[in-house]
Amino acid sequence: MTTGNRRPLIAGNWKMFKTCSEAVETVSRLMELARGADTVDIMVAPPFTSLHPVSEVAEKGNIAVGAQNIFWEKDGAYTGEISADMLRSCGVTHVLIGHSERRQYFGETDETVNRRVGAAIAAELIPVLCVGETEEQREEGNTFSVLDKQIKKGLEGLSASELVNLVVAYEPVWAIGTGKTATPSMVQEVHGFLRDLIEKTFDSDLSSAVRILYGGSVKPDNIGELMALADVDGALVGGASLDPETFSRIIHF
Ligand code: PGA
Repeated sequence: MTTGNRRPLIAGNWKMFKTCSEAVETVSRLMELARGADTVDIMVAPPFTSLHPVSEVAEKGNIAVGAQNIFWEKDGAYTGEISADMLRSCGVTHVLIGHSERRQYFGETDETVNRRVGAAIAAELIPVLCVGETEEQREEGNTFSVLDKQIKKGLEGLSASELVNLVVAYEPVWAIGTGKTATPSMVQEVHGFLRDLIEKTFDSDLSSAVRILYGGSVKPDNIGELMALADVDGALVGGASLDPETFSRIIHF
């Protein structure tokens, strides 16, 4: 296993919550509360409709803005889709790719995930590649083979140097929005596996640099034990990122 000096990233996934004015209000409050959190990177991923106003506020502070998805074509007749350049023009620097809700409800596959990662990298956006097994896959003993495929297919055709800013988020599907968190030993086991897999698939420079976030019912009262794990480099927080007071307690873990 490789070690590295990785700066923690605490990211909030707002999913389909908040109007423009609510999103701006939330990020404004979060900026006040996040003052002094100088040892972590902070990112929020609002819905597309709030990206621009949120980034205008966030750029005055230490909060980065991420999108929740990206389409791989540069432009064209693709009604309803959003390109990398459009995201960049809204002040976006990060993008969630392959979140399990996208895979589950919107037909995302490892192939479409791969195209999205490629588009993000080509536009110098930081991809946050989400992976994770379902409850059934875990019970059947397939956790590691599922993750192996999601990582290898999701990153196929990309080189270690292209992936230098890659972030991976391990989110067991059964822990998302359920209040069930994976135990610290389960999380460390998977994060260690993912880092080794990245070393074997790419190289040790990438595996020691890649930040691996945990996601799935992260709360102020479990962030400390998660961040204490050797291969946990941050968190992707859904429900508990919607309220700035709660999210700031996670940031100041
Ligand atoms: P949760 O969501 O924190 O509400 O479980 C995490 C996520 O979906 O990214």
